[in-house]
Amino acid sequence: MTTSHPRLGLLGFGEAAGRLAKDFTQAGFTNILGYSRSGAKAQPGDPIHQRAQAAGVTLVKTVGTLAKKSDIIIAMTPGKSALPALKKIRKHLRPDHLYIDASSNSAHNMEQAAALVGATAKFVDASIMGPVDIMGIKVPFVASGPHAAEFRDLMVPHGMVINVVGANPGDASAMKLIRSVLMKGLAGLLLETMEAARRRNILDEVIEDTSVTFNDIPFQKIIKRYIGGTAVHCGRRIHEMKECLELLHEMGSSDRNTRNTIAMLRDMVKMGMPEKFPVEPDTIHPVIDALIAARAKPA
Ligand SMILES: NC(=O)c1ccc[n+]([C@@H]2O[C@H](COP(=O)([O-])OP(=O)(O)OC[C@H]3O[C@@H](n4cnc5c(N)ncnc54)[C@H](OP(=O)(O)O)[C@@H]3O)[C@@H](O)[C@H]2O)c1
Repeated sequence: MTTSHPRLGLLGFGEAAGRLAKDFTQAGFTNILGYSRSGAKAQPGDPIHQRAQAAGVTLVKTVGTLAKKSDIIIAMTPGKSALPALKKIRKHLRPDHLYIDASSNSAHNMEQAAALVGATAKFVDASIMGPVDIMGIKVPFVASGPHAAEFRDLMVPHGMVINVVGANPGDASAMKLIRSVLMKGLAGLLLETMEAARRRNILDEVIEDTSVTFNDIPFQKIIKRYIGGTAVHCGRRIHEMKECLELLHEMGSSDRNTRNTIAMLRDMVKMGMPEKFPVEPDTIHPVIDALIAARAKPA
């Protein structure tokens, strides 16, 4: 492998691969190869060839050729196509290949993909954490597995942003999904809050008030305060949240998140959190560990 500019093979040549290829070319990579099923069937002059040419990519007809002429293979297929695409290319892989699975996928599928690759090549679970069409080569990747650091060390000098997050394949994909628990869940909470505020004709006031609370606090502190505070005060917060629920019902507003908050607070009380945490702990770790230990107990 030429470490200065390893030979790149892109398995899947859609939006993400096309945009990254353009930036790889600008970063000095030459002879970038691309494979997709439609690309393999396309005639010279077809739009996919024009797109490839503009990005500095040569489309190849077979995955065998892609593997033969690449050092790093970056798979950017839809999640459901990742395993079928791997199964097709697997027999062409070499022990010196870095095989980067950058599809959005479950941790389980990544573990399966790593097991399929085995010792045939060096497998890396990689998750793309932002919009490639907007951020190009600067889009953050998180990568995991025993070969993730090699991927980072080879590609970061060329402008990629790669954070190694775990020792095992599956960790990077799990991180992306776990992040979504917060991000998508937060969207639901915000919607429920703002719907209620609008029904009461105090939407702008609520936006202003909640923003003041959040704007000046570093997010690490918000995590610590909200988790520690809930462990200590879960009992008395049930009463307040029941009043919130009553208000939402009176207005005919959505209440799914609020009902869930009450259920969560009741669970924390049943787990004995206020007794375990009479004052807020210095970190969230003991609270999370106590929660996991309580859930592990047979019902
Ligand atoms: N675009 C983004 O900003 C972004 C951001 C985060 C994550 N991602 C993830 O990155 C992956 C790629 O995204 P994308 O936006 O580039 O998707 P896309 O535009 O749909 O492109 C997918 C590519 O994979 C090819 N493909 C599908 N099945 C294949 C197979 N069995 N063998 C070889 N190639 C195959 C498709 O072509 P053919 O069907 O012709 O084979 C196409 O070229 C996805 O998993 C996506 O979730 C993308």
